[in-house]
Amino acid sequence: MGKKVSDHVTWVGKTDWQLTKFHGDEYSTHLGSSYNAYLIRDKKTALIDTVWQPFDKEFVSRLKREIDLCDIDFIVMNHNEIDHSGALPELLREIPDVPIYCTARGEAILRGHYNGDWNFKNVHTGDTLSLGDTTLTFIEAPMLHWPDTMFTHLSGDNVLFSNDGFGQHFASESLFDDQVDMTLLVNEAEKYYANILVPFNPMVRRKMDELLSMGLPIDIIAPSHGIIWRRNPRLIIDRYLQWCRDYQENQISIIYDTMWNSTRVMAENIAEGINKTDSDVTVKLFNASHHDKNDIITEVFHSKALIVGSPTINSGISFAMSGIMEMIKGMKFKNKSGASFGSYGWSGEAVKELDTLLSASGFNVVTPGIRTLWVPDGNELERCRQFGADFVASIKQQSKQTI
Ligand code: FEO
Repeated sequence: MGKKVSDHVTWVGKTDWQLTKFHGDEYSTHLGSSYNAYLIRDKKTALIDTVWQPFDKEFVSRLKREIDLCDIDFIVMNHNEIDHSGALPELLREIPDVPIYCTARGEAILRGHYNGDWNFKNVHTGDTLSLGDTTLTFIEAPMLHWPDTMFTHLSGDNVLFSNDGFGQHFASESLFDDQVDMTLLVNEAEKYYANILVPFNPMVRRKMDELLSMGLPIDIIAPSHGIIWRRNPRLIIDRYLQWCRDYQENQISIIYDTMWNSTRVMAENIAEGINKTDSDVTVKLFNASHHDKNDIITEVFHSKALIVGSPTINSGISFAMSGIMEMIKGMKFKNKSGASFGSYGWSGEAVKELDTLLSASGFNVVTPGIRTLWVPDGNELERCRQFGADFVASIKQQSKQTI
């Protein structure tokens, strides 16, 4: 069952190949996922995290094949969301007195989820636990991405158990980054960051700085989802250092919905106007009704600007645009420009509403949105192209002024 990670560490998690949705329907997992748990065997034995509740019996039964459960001296719970703590009650039915090392907020979450009156040991940043030749050091990491989150460092093997941080939803029979497609892996890590961690950018910045200032040697980063980083763990640390600083590329994303194609045609002509004026900028279009919402959020994450479009429906915007705009608002993106567009038949409120939503989501709305009545004709499409051209010229001018 177990797979060797390093001299003292064995992976004892669960790979979930059939997972396509996570957090209810909040996160799409095109590549499945894994719930990584790790066994550290030194003079003392520690288990880092467990797995999601549907796999609790399987986890405990497979763990028994790896080790006599009575030989587990410590359990470390880095984060207590149910995908990592779900198998804990089943395990503690067998070894109820084993001490559980977690933050005070971790204890509160475990009590709140399971009513477990277990043997909790609260830890703080810098606290250590000797396993013999190796030592665990705990590092609180609140809001990466829950208040209870912490990292645990193992000396000797120099492993950072980072829980959700540096993770990706990526099912594989291989454990390590040097055994999988790196482009795919980094893309999944970016999607994870864009959809889970962006709202907590300031905390990620502080934590990355603190982690590096602690000077702990890190040869391996072992997250709680997906693939383990060992080829060059600094690669994903450096990506996080970039991503947490309101990262953006030279991209403009256009997200729209359409009923009878008028708003789609407007989107395509706005894109044409942008590209004609600035051929260096990457322009990508996404239909909010068709494209995966989490992939769209990842594209918005690394875009410098966003243009959103909707036909007017019942005096407002479409259901799909409403959903994606709510997600965008929750991400608290910074330093991005925005504009809106849409077709209408008689009242035409959608564009104004989109402008309001963009502003409320922290976007710099550089120009009032553009509307077209019914099906845009040649003149209207030229107006859309000019709108795109003016938009990109305007944000270029703004960025020059900022420099
Ligand atoms: Fe993977 Fe926040 O749980």
